[in-house]
Amino acid sequence: MSEWVSISRVLKAEGIVGGRVCIRGWIYRRSVVGGKAFVRVRDSTGVIQVVVDKNRLGTGLVKRLKDIGLEASVKACGVVVEQPRAPGGREVVADYFEIVGDSRDFPIKGGEGIDYLLDKRHLWIRSRRLTEIMKVKHTVLKAGREYFIRNGWWEVTPPILTASAVEGGATLFPVKYFDKTAYLSQSAQLYLEALIYSLEKVWSLTTSFRAEKSRTRRHLAEYWHLEAEAAWYHMEDMMRVVEELVSYIVRRVLEENMEQLEFLKRDTRILENALETPYPRIRYDEAIEILQGKGVSIEWGDDLGADEERVLTMEFDKPFFITHFPKEIKSFYMKLDKDDPRLALGFDLLAPEGYGEVVGGSEREEDLEKLRDRIIEQGYDPRDYEWYLDLRRYGSVPHSGFGLGVERLVMWITGIDHIRDAIPFPRFRGRIYP
Ligand code: 4AD
Ligand code: MG
Repeated sequence: MSEWVSISRVLKAEGIVGGRVCIRGWIYRRSVVGGKAFVRVRDSTGVIQVVVDKNRLGTGLVKRLKDIGLEASVKACGVVVEQPRAPGGREVVADYFEIVGDSRDFPIKGGEGIDYLLDKRHLWIRSRRLTEIMKVKHTVLKAGREYFIRNGWWEVTPPILTASAVEGGATLFPVKYFDKTAYLSQSAQLYLEALIYSLEKVWSLTTSFRAEKSRTRRHLAEYWHLEAEAAWYHMEDMMRVVEELVSYIVRRVLEENMEQLEFLKRDTRILENALETPYPRIRYDEAIEILQGKGVSIEWGDDLGADEERVLTMEFDKPFFITHFPKEIKSFYMKLDKDDPRLALGFDLLAPEGYGEVVGGSEREEDLEKLRDRIIEQGYDPRDYEWYLDLRRYGSVPHSGFGLGVERLVMWITGIDHIRDAIPFPRFRGRIYP
């Protein structure tokens, strides 16, 4: 028996037609007409039709294939022939066919509701759509890593079990930690800050946790967070890193995932716009003016929610930054603008087409007293942040950083309408199984 060949090779390789191949995979669809079973088999690379003729392989097998459930695992060998009526234009005429793992009454038949599908997520994850999205996510993760490695940033491994909040106490997940309470990390930022004093430019890719109370299209309780921090960088330096990183990731996806984007019916023109940097920058003040000009009821000082962001994204055909937010709506660690201390030197990167925030970052307060005041102002106990304050006691330097929500970026790049499909096993309120 020949070696196993991937289905995409059988469909695409030159010189393979007329030859004999062996494939293995799962039954995607099947029908029996006359004495022939037409079995569509999928593997991780594609779907191909396999023809099983009773005259060759026996009536017993064809009968069994008539009743077999979708998703049974199979092995098949046979000659590859051109077949314009088969998907992909080729099929395998089987001279060998084996059912490896039976499947009876596969519980997803099409048309089920979302809660049912989420209960069956461990099986639904095999769907073509989710598979294609995961392939794009693979490229996003790979390209993110590549970007940092190629540009001389150190990868580090911050803790997930932590003692205090970075992004607000309201979304902390407590966990029993021996005889104490710990919290699942919301962001690696404070630890990355500690690491810049030796490594200068650091990044990490970790899970972050947010106990978001409401279910939205863009919030998960557990998400993948690509974060970076660098000594000596001011806000504008870090924004350049962000736009380069995002355009690099989009470029890699366009190079490697056209097949996936086509399947997902993604209009790639807007992705192409994102290749070109710099991205537009507007200040929070301008954002408020734009919104008010469009009749949105919002006042200076209000935070921008998903609805406001959606309106703003209509003004741009590529990702764009919003900068200089009122300090009250941003975290304690952000440095204040020396020209207008009502403002924090924070920036968000918003994806166009209604998607909104994918990156949040800032320049950090490097002054000990100012940072302590901000911690108190925001209602935290500076004693919980003594170690973090130490970083300002021993050789403090200007520095900046950011966090990119991987699923947010995947959501925009793939053009999907809900963040749950950008992660195989989504976690949000009311959902922990499977
Ligand atoms: O804007 P955030 O809260 O910023 C931070 O955590 C900073 N400490 C990061 C840093 O400077 N190192 O979160 C960063 C990004 C957001 O822009 C968003 O893309 C994503 O993380 N994010 C979420 N993604 C999915 N579900 C959630 N609940 C998210 N919350 C934030
Ligand atoms: Mg944010």
